[in-house]
Amino acid sequence: MGQARPQRVVVMTGATSGLGAHALAQIVAQSNTRVFVGARGSGRTVPEGVEVLPLELASLANVRAFADALTRRLGDTRINLLVLNAGLHGSNAKQRSADGYGLTFAVNHLAHYLLAQLLLPHMAEHSRLVITSSNMHNPPFKRIAPKSLDLQEWAHPTPNGSGAGIRSYTASKLCNMMTALSLARLDEVKVRQINVVAFNPGLTGGVAGRDASALQRAFVKALTRTVFPLIGLFRPEFVMNTPEHSGNMLANVALGAISPPPGRIYVSLVKGEPTFPDPSELARSQEAQDRLWRESAAMLGIE
Ligand SMILES: NC(=O)c1ccc[n+]([C@@H]2O[C@H](COP(=O)([O-])OP(=O)(O)OC[C@H]3O[C@@H](n4cnc5c(N)ncnc54)[C@H](OP(=O)(O)O)[C@@H]3O)[C@@H](O)[C@H]2O)c1
Repeated sequence: MGQARPQRVVVMTGATSGLGAHALAQIVAQSNTRVFVGARGSGRTVPEGVEVLPLELASLANVRAFADALTRRLGDTRINLLVLNAGLHGSNAKQRSADGYGLTFAVNHLAHYLLAQLLLPHMAEHSRLVITSSNMHNPPFKRIAPKSLDLQEWAHPTPNGSGAGIRSYTASKLCNMMTALSLARLDEVKVRQINVVAFNPGLTGGVAGRDASALQRAFVKALTRTVFPLIGLFRPEFVMNTPEHSGNMLANVALGAISPPPGRIYVSLVKGEPTFPDPSELARSQEAQDRLWRESAAMLGIE
């Protein structure tokens, strides 16, 4: 008789709506898989069998409490798949996290940077860590994407500065990309052969986010049907994907059905298909990666 295959343990953020909810459905449907989801509550539903633990990414204390509760529940069991997918689509200069940081920087970057560090020691050998970034981190795709690190502004946004509005989003997605690249360079990650992947779902319907107003949603829907198909003729990276498709592709990336070639970590959907491009020039700078890593750690009071 063959030995029973060990259970696959999955931990995910951003699994309660948008493309993450579709990815979750596909991951949960795998046999022999135990799934934990960090969620901020208030009526979100997840498929049966998923274990939900409270997680408010806008509070660093809450992120730590989530990691504690999760690792207590896991005991000696290791994580095989960590999917850091939650994200805000941009906040104004006044919106702050519980710790006083710019909300988008805090939720999209700082919280996930902390979570990755707290959970790394609990990850299995040959496990996979996926961070959802965006091609919006890259100036050729989004003109206002950062060309240099402006960490103080991103952490403490001023009106019209690079830490506010859609600029805060592009900056946070750059931070996600750089965090993935930094994680992939860690000795601990290399020795334990943890596979780090940064994922860009590409423009995905519902791009306004679940907190968008009815007007914003109607606007995005109208653009999806009119302007985006036209732009897509010339700029394939702006072809709009459905949340179902992007979610299924995230699940494929997470489950290892799609992998970047050796030495690369970025999977970017173009016309809904995976491509493996270079991250932006700034993201690839190891000096900039190290600075983001150091200064993020300092903001969190960790080494
Ligand atoms: N849509 C696009 O065009 C696009 C393009 C490129 C990259 N992305 C990235 O893809 C990921 C998913 O995007 P989406 O469009 O599917 O977004 P979405 O529909 O707005 O879903 C975002 C997810 O993040 C969770 N979340 C947000 N703030 C949170 C907080 N403070 N604490 C805990 N959870 C929080 C949400 O939880 P609730 O259910 O509680 O709201 C939800 O599960 C994001 O990282 C986004 O940046 C999206």
